[in-house]
Amino acid sequence: MLYLIGTGLHDFKDMSLRAFEILEKCDRIFLENYTSPQNIDLASLEKRLGKKIQSLSREEVESSELIYKKNTALLVIGDPLVATTHQEIVNTAEKKGISVKIIHSSSIVSAICETGLHIYKFGKITSIPFTQKDFKPKSPCNIIKQNISINAHSLILLDIGMNFKEAIGFILDNCDFINEKTKAMVCADLGGKSIIISGDIGELKDKEIKEQPQVLIIPAEMHFTEEDSFNKFR
Ligand SMILES: C[S@@+](CC[C@H](N)C(=O)[O-])C[C@H]1O[C@@H](n2cnc3c(N)ncnc32)[C@H](O)[C@@H]1O
Repeated sequence: MLYLIGTGLHDFKDMSLRAFEILEKCDRIFLENYTSPQNIDLASLEKRLGKKIQSLSREEVESSELIYKKNTALLVIGDPLVATTHQEIVNTAEKKGISVKIIHSSSIVSAICETGLHIYKFGKITSIPFTQKDFKPKSPCNIIKQNISINAHSLILLDIGMNFKEAIGFILDNCDFINEKTKAMVCADLGGKSIIISGDIGELKDKEIKEQPQVLIIPAEMHFTEEDSFNKFR
């Protein structure tokens, strides 16, 4: 069996008891931490399990045979199948005759409920990557526009290490339907320090948040309970 195990959002203690019991029995444990920037305290986890854990690069996960062995676990930050491309691992393992078991965990996609916005009112998720001068992806603006057209909130994931100010700069420069008066929320380190701020984009631009990782949310029309939460974080 190849186990894909979510470590949750804050640290390895967010893993389920079932995940720990599986890790105790696994012959090999790997960690991929390139899809999310949480700093897992590997040394403490290794000490607790009495086993070595090997960190893998994207290339080692995607283009090598390292993880395709029986009785092996791959730790993934957050939930292993949310905003990762790890369904590919499931398909590849199954083609090789290795069964896969997913152990889910907390994810940014559920943690955004801390904002008070209703999860069923979110539309498509998009992400903003670090961009080169001559390459500006169109999909973030297109997706936010589509979401607004069906009155759905937009969750915008940021590239690893990106500060929300850079994301705000990107959407102000590239999405012509967004301006300084557009409402937005920023969340950082949800599940850890859980920092949330809200306001007009023009106001948020002047705020500082150092904690990582971060997301930006462009809410659509809000229910009055959502408005109450939005105002609480102003
Ligand atoms: C590619 S997604 C991977 C999501 C992860 N598999 C999960 O289930 O949460 C990583 C991005 O999600 C956002 N993110 C992840 N964890 C977060 C947290 N605890 N607080 C705020 N944003 C977070 C950041 O924008 C980060 O760059």
